[in-house]
Amino acid sequence: MGETQGELGGHPDRLRWNAKYADYEGRPFAPHPLADAALAMALPAGPVLDLACGPSGSALLAAADGRRVTAVDVSDVALELLDREARRRGVRDLLTLVHADLETWRAETTFAVVLCTGFWDRAVFEGVVGAVMPAGALGWEAFTMDARNERPRLPAEWCLEAGEPASLLPGDFTVVRQEEVPGGKRRMLARRA
Ligand SMILES: C[S@@+](CC[C@H](N)C(=O)[O-])C[C@H]1O[C@@H](n2cnc3c(N)ncnc32)[C@H](O)[C@@H]1O
Repeated sequence: MGETQGELGGHPDRLRWNAKYADYEGRPFAPHPLADAALAMALPAGPVLDLACGPSGSALLAAADGRRVTAVDVSDVALELLDREARRRGVRDLLTLVHADLETWRAETTFAVVLCTGFWDRAVFEGVVGAVMPAGALGWEAFTMDARNERPRLPAEWCLEAGEPASLLPGDFTVVRQEEVPGGKRRMLARRA
């Protein structure tokens, strides 16, 4: 499938998400709207990073666009689904699939686009923001604190505080847009100078 970093066998997120993806077969690999928006921007040459990628239609879209993609997830089931679909579409050579926990994974290069949808960890955000190339794009979507009204068991540390993530961007980023989306989520697209 790809490279595995660290010992993930009993990782609770791996077990939880592997179980969720167990009956994923047959679903469409739809790109996230942030991937559509980011890839439509004037971007530098360079690869795309998709964090907490899942069976990512966004990674497939970027690869179809001719970009190299690094896709990271703690779920090996998700990465296997992505692997298979990428082979079917003839873009597998453009994908680097990394089976890792984002708490410990570190970017070793820079990317024209960094995407993360459906995952929030402030330390991960702060650790990866510097991996966006000059003139590159950063797209992020995650639950806000409001989502806890409907989902009281959602841990607060998985949720964006008011103004985040835009409020956490270094000064050389400009927010293209940040908006609330249905389901108690916030979506941000930003560009580095
Ligand atoms: C809500 S899904 C989002 C998937 C995809 N990005 C999307 O927008 O459809 C959350 C993803 O985060 C991954 N994930 C959860 N905890 C993780 C961790 N600690 N390290 C890496 N990936 C993680 C899960 O395996 C799952 O694929």
